[in-house]
Amino acid sequence: MDRELALELVRVTEAAALAASRWVGRGDADGADGAATEAMRNMFRTVDIRGVVVIGEGEMDEAPMLAQGEEVGTGRGPRVDVAVDPIEGTSMVAKMLPNALSVAAIAPRGHLLKAPDMYMEKLACGPRLRGILSLDDPLETTLRKAAEALGKPLSELSVAMLERDRHKAHLDVARRLGVRIKLLNAGDVLGSIATALPRGGTDLYVGSGGAPEGVLAAVALRCLGGDFQGRLMPQTPEQRERCQQLGLDVAKTLALSDLAGDDDAIFAATGITDGDWLEGVRREGDYLHTQSVVMRVRTGTVRHVNATHYRPLEMRLAQTV
Ligand code: FBP
Repeated sequence: MDRELALELVRVTEAAALAASRWVGRGDADGADGAATEAMRNMFRTVDIRGVVVIGEGEMDEAPMLAQGEEVGTGRGPRVDVAVDPIEGTSMVAKMLPNALSVAAIAPRGHLLKAPDMYMEKLACGPRLRGILSLDDPLETTLRKAAEALGKPLSELSVAMLERDRHKAHLDVARRLGVRIKLLNAGDVLGSIATALPRGGTDLYVGSGGAPEGVLAAVALRCLGGDFQGRLMPQTPEQRERCQQLGLDVAKTLALSDLAGDDDAIFAATGITDGDWLEGVRREGDYLHTQSVVMRVRTGTVRHVNATHYRPLEMRLAQTV
């Protein structure tokens, strides 16, 4: 894959973030998601790839745009898998809360897991813990191993998880061991990635969240030299059947290579609302400013891209071809 595609992918997440920014604080998560998805899809029409959406807005019969299986790109260029989340944290956009992002990843065809829309049990960590932890271990073992490997007491270890009732057992274990716990409202792509950022503030991410988000996080963690492991958690007979159709073994602990298995993968994100990692879209007169990040697995380079967009551009996004 041409490395210039990295910049193209930023254009795509910028377009979605710009469109989403008009919906920040308006209490309409669906409206925001629709606008961001449409803008992202339109921008993809300008990108020289032969892409197929493997992680998108849902199944073909339920999502009007960027559904799993949809072809994107100009139809010229490399054959790639495309994973998108036009808004990661739709509720944060609706409620004007921090850390909403637009994210996308591409990899050569066949190298991103076609994760169905269901929960996934996750374990993410930065480079220093890579190869040391296993999702198959009980959480207590994982926390003890992590503290030992990082050479700090459990009281200085920090772990993030979504604040959900289903995480009570995890929370109890971590509290009993005296670990610092960051409880997230939403947004476990960033929750996972933060473990590998130099000033991310957390050592580990644990708990369950969306499986599609798991694939996006896995690409980013490959770029950053961290680790991500996941296990699908079908909750209904339909979800189990979907896994079977896709040939996915629900008992298997998925390694980074199962989720995002190629060195040519690229990950991009643009801030929608201000956050721990990226600033959100900012208006200044006729201009809109975006802050994005793009990284490639092959080189591990993380590029920050600050862009200024003349405001009428935003008006034209819907017609971009
Ligand atoms: P959306 O942007 O699709 O709302 O996802 C936000 C998110 O917090 C993800 O980051 C996470 O994987 C998932 O929702 C968790 O789902 P739930 O809110 O059901 O626990």
